[in-house]
Amino acid sequence: MWNKNVAYIVIRPQRYTKEFVDHAETFSLTFFNNDKRKMLSYLGTASGRDEDKIKKSNLTVTHTDHVPYFEEATKVILCKKIFAQEYKSESFIDQELKEKCYPNSDYHTLYIAEVTKILVQE
Ligand SMILES: Cc1cc2nc3c(=O)[nH]c(=O)nc-3n(C[C@H](O)[C@H](O)[C@H](O)COP(=O)(O)O)c2cc1C
Repeated sequence: MWNKNVAYIVIRPQRYTKEFVDHAETFSLTFFNNDKRKMLSYLGTASGRDEDKIKKSNLTVTHTDHVPYFEEATKVILCKKIFAQEYKSESFIDQELKEKCYPNSDYHTLYIAEVTKILVQE
């Protein structure tokens, strides 16, 4: 996109994660081995607003180029935000999908981010 390598992510307004992504210029996408499935399912269902998910998951925060990520990840994509826009009701071509996925009109915000570095570790 725009002659850059980019990643697209979407975040709903009620996510604690959104506060961090909105306030930072950068973020990271982290990938883990299969043995971390249970941990990922926990991270994807509990909110950091209610508990310290990082501590409970025994994850270690580290930085490269001032971008935070988890040391335990096997692959890390470092990203720099370049675009953000909330989905709009009128943008849905499939209205049924909109009604099914957003009964409370809590539309995702789409972020497009430039990939600045990819880290791979065994
Ligand atoms: C497999 C999976 C994928 C998810 N993807 C997203 C996503 O792309 N955007 C989003 O806003 N929430 C997504 N979620 C939901 C959040 O991870 C979940 O609500 C989480 O509790 C939010 O935590 P937070 O409040 O600490 O940000 C996903 C959950 C799972 C299990």
